[in-house]
Amino acid sequence: MNILVGIYSSVAAWNIPAGHVDRLRQEFPQHVFLHAPTEADVPALVREADVAFMSELRPAHLAAAPRLRWVHSPAAGVGSMLFPAMVASPVLISNSRGMSADSIAEHVLALTLALFRKFPQAFRGQAARHWAQDEAMGLPPLRVVQSSRVLVVGLGRIGAACARRFAGLGADVTAVRRRMDQPVPEGVRAVRPVRELHDVLPDADVVVISAAQTADTRGLIGLRELALMRRDGILVNVSRGKLVDERALAAALRDGVIGGAGLDVFEHEPLDPASPLWALPNVLITPHTAGFRPDHWDAATALFAGNLRRFESGQPVLNEVDKQAGY
Ligand SMILES: NC(=O)c1ccc[n+]([C@@H]2O[C@H](COP(=O)([O-])OP(=O)(O)OC[C@H]3O[C@@H](n4cnc5c(N)ncnc54)[C@H](OP(=O)(O)O)[C@@H]3O)[C@@H](O)[C@H]2O)c1
Repeated sequence: MNILVGIYSSVAAWNIPAGHVDRLRQEFPQHVFLHAPTEADVPALVREADVAFMSELRPAHLAAAPRLRWVHSPAAGVGSMLFPAMVASPVLISNSRGMSADSIAEHVLALTLALFRKFPQAFRGQAARHWAQDEAMGLPPLRVVQSSRVLVVGLGRIGAACARRFAGLGADVTAVRRRMDQPVPEGVRAVRPVRELHDVLPDADVVVISAAQTADTRGLIGLRELALMRRDGILVNVSRGKLVDERALAAALRDGVIGGAGLDVFEHEPLDPASPLWALPNVLITPHTAGFRPDHWDAATALFAGNLRRFESGQPVLNEVDKQAGY
């Protein structure tokens, strides 16, 4: 088979290292690996590809790829690949959900703890060589995760990893998910269907957004949902920016409708320097780094290699995406 590896980005760390493509060549001498280090290289190579290991595949690429049977993404979110022609096509899509769940869950905890323990104020004090004890001990109060109420919106691999960690610190964890027939992960006290989101938002000290981006979850958190949250509630988004109405969020944070936010993902990335979110004192911004870890490409390549073995032997691939559901 011809296997197109096209994982490129303007962000250096999101490019698959060439050494990992060579590793695949050594592990699978029976296949031909075509490496597209930039998007400009794709059109010439995709026409021969039976399989693609890519995080983005555009309608023009699919139209030019008559042999393509399977696309595996090194990311968990594959929304941009699910354009109508792809959904209608017989091309199988699989993703890397779960691969980053541990690092993302730790990132969610870090953002939550930093906001609860008022680290942004401490960092500002440190930068100014200012002993900010009065600010730290004044309002809003320093808080603890122990006995806090955490709402996890999207109980997939990331949501479950977050739930386990919060429960381990003594929090009471409720989750909202789409498929209510799935097993309840460790650490989750109650699972509620999506239609009950509005009922559970008012109880949460921390709302973690970890649902996939689909047609149903776009704008899931808007003006109404933010207004339902506690005034000291914290929103942590590590899923995709488009699940949250960013303009409404900035206004809610500015006006004290909610207490704070830890944000790793944004409607448009990189976040515009003019965004009001940068300057809000109750916001912690990380530049879409929650999912990265030192062995990222080892793990991503190993997952693909395992799936390739399954694909070539006719077994179902792992992490198949339901193209209708969008994840
Ligand atoms: N920040 C980063 O660097 C980073 C890295 C990796 C992934 N992500 C994002 O995180 C998302 C989740 O990743 P994952 O590995 O946890 O994927 P996953 O295991 O596929 O989980 C997706 C979850 O979304 C839930 N969901 C779908 N529609 C929903 C709805 N309408 N309301 C509530 N929940 C809904 C699903 O619920 P059911 O289980 O009930 O079907 C499922 O639990 C990815 O799609 C990706 O966009 C971000």
